[in-house]
Amino acid sequence: LFAGIQDAPLDPIMRLFEAFNADPSPKKLNLVVGVYTDADGKVPRLRAVQTAEKRWIEKGLPKTYRPIEGTKPFRDAVQALLFGAGAPILSQNRTATLQSIGGTGALKTGADILAKLYPDATVAVSNPSWENHKALFTQAGFTVVDYPYFSAETGGADYPAMKAYLRDLPKGSIVVLHACCHNPTGADLTIDEWRDLVPLMAERGLVPFLDIAYQGFGNGLDADAEPVRLFAESGQEFLVASSFSKSFSLYGERVGALTIVAENPSARAKVEAFAKRLVRASYSNPHTHGAAIVEIVLTDPELRADWERELAEMRDRIRAMRERMADSLQQRHPERGFDAIKVQKGMFSYTGLSPAEATRLREEHEVYALETGRICVAAVNSHNIDHVIDAIDAVVKG
Ligand code: LMR
Repeated sequence: LFAGIQDAPLDPIMRLFEAFNADPSPKKLNLVVGVYTDADGKVPRLRAVQTAEKRWIEKGLPKTYRPIEGTKPFRDAVQALLFGAGAPILSQNRTATLQSIGGTGALKTGADILAKLYPDATVAVSNPSWENHKALFTQAGFTVVDYPYFSAETGGADYPAMKAYLRDLPKGSIVVLHACCHNPTGADLTIDEWRDLVPLMAERGLVPFLDIAYQGFGNGLDADAEPVRLFAESGQEFLVASSFSKSFSLYGERVGALTIVAENPSARAKVEAFAKRLVRASYSNPHTHGAAIVEIVLTDPELRADWERELAEMRDRIRAMRERMADSLQQRHPERGFDAIKVQKGMFSYTGLSPAEATRLREEHEVYALETGRICVAAVNSHNIDHVIDAIDAVVKG
């Protein structure tokens, strides 16, 4: 029955994550997968999340089916996070949000909707992009191409090259954009570049699909959503995939949301019904627990304020680690451009390490990083930072 299956290797992130889990060494360090760990190297249980969880359990509510699209307070809270409380778009009734299975589930449902409507469209993802973007859109049936994005010379985004490429994409192409904290490089567009890009997308008839998996980890909750808000103000139709895995440290709960901005209320109603039908035939209903926790935190002013404080602490801690790493490595190897680590945002950095150097990092120093040179800076802390810096130093020296 299954003999015809071709080799189906996992993507490098999950492959190395499995190798890391299988490695018995107590000294091993996981800089592969995008998980924030605190100053003691632990995946934090956020204060507000713990309180919300307690409250939820005390209520003792039955675990009946959740609405396909999630509850209204959850969806409203997601929209307010994306667009800002009181944003004009929130009263225009052209925005549909559906709770999803993490950010990946949001991308997948969005991809399935678009694939049903426009099976011949091309999907463009950044070069490089999150490993799963290409796989996910390919699996949905699309031809996936990549647009120039990262400049290895500057360690930043190359907006002129990206723009030149997008300008020539066929009308109706879907463009996956990282709203903030670009995964895997940490290199974001500037706000002026976004201001230039947003009208270009409309002029060229391109379909924006924004991935915002790290809202709050770059410059703050509002600042990180600025690109989403620029699209909202432009009047265009677009899609957004949100993830709460990182910002609530609820990875295994798989809480996310797909938000679809349509032209008008009637188009919104149509696409919402269409999305619900697809979900019904896919996984039927979303889960309860994780989304209920996120909903309680986002709708309770005190818990919300505490969550924002803790998110800021995570952001600041990553920034401090970035600065220490960048300064130290830049001093040791001024020719390698390590100072970009300081400017890059979010959980990841492209260190510029070659595949051979990344392999040596793992084999000789037990520091697991992707062969592309991506490291998860969010897993670096004051206990392991010297080891990480020394290990990178050693492999760069050759
Ligand atoms: C990552 O890029 O490491 C994270 O987004 C986790 C994942 O699912 O790949």
